[in-house]
Amino acid sequence: MSNIAVRQEGELWWIGLNRPDRRNAHDEATVAEFDAVLAQAGRTPSILLIHSTTPGIFAAGADIRQMRECDSDHALRAINAGLFDRLEAHRWPTIALIDGPALGGGCEMALACDFRIASARAIFAQPEASLGILAGSGGNWRLAQLVGLAAARRMLLAGARLDAAAALEAGLVDEIADDLPARGEALAKTIAQRSWRALELTKLALRVHRPDTTKFDTVAQALLFDSADKYERMTAFLERKKR
Ligand code: COA
Repeated sequence: MSNIAVRQEGELWWIGLNRPDRRNAHDEATVAEFDAVLAQAGRTPSILLIHSTTPGIFAAGADIRQMRECDSDHALRAINAGLFDRLEAHRWPTIALIDGPALGGGCEMALACDFRIASARAIFAQPEASLGILAGSGGNWRLAQLVGLAAARRMLLAGARLDAAAALEAGLVDEIADDLPARGEALAKTIAQRSWRALELTKLALRVHRPDTTKFDTVAQALLFDSADKYERMTAFLERKKR
């Protein structure tokens, strides 16, 4: 079974995170699949709706089991950061539909989209520092850009978890909806009535002053990936049920 389930309805591409047994944690195979979908979707006018095929979860972030074994060499490849940069750079608008926890890289994936619509059970957090790493796939700067430095500090440094209402207040989500697919589709169809070329150029214009700390984040992450502290903290997560 594929980790990414794609359904195309005209110009609307429904991209479903489809790894329920790992709560949609994205491993390298998932990133490669997602990348292939992005490459295909970028060929013709398309609005992407990123969602989970499993109700009650968006994504649990990078795959901790895989990441625990990765060293600085791996971190320097900036695999997830690259995916989210390409998602952000999709030529036409993208919408994340968040129906549950969006943690770590799950939150970063949502941040890389142009719009975020959440259900009441959405939760946003960046737990990286508790795992001995940093939010190196855009979390650091995209979060600060959206919610401001103070709220970003609360999430990145103090581990604050925002529920849907708090995320709406902070500007992290655009709206809360009961029926996410219906709301997502309505927004996508409204956007699709506009000029594709104008949308594309507007997206480019909005990125002209984009802060970019990716290179720094990548090097800092590489440093952390070699630490025993990170290995122990990730092991503690993976073995928490045993204890
Ligand atoms: N990477 C790898 N595996 C993960 C994972 C991740 N990010 N998140 C969850 N899983 C795995 C669990 O280890 C568990 O595996 P097991 O069945 O072999 O024990 C399985 O997915 C189900 O997770 P579980 O925690 O039992 O599900 P839940 O519904 O009770 O909780 C979450 C869901 C998302 C709240 C919880 O899994 C969680 O907090 N995940 C970690 C989030 C995180 O720290 N992400 C940051 C990564 S940088």
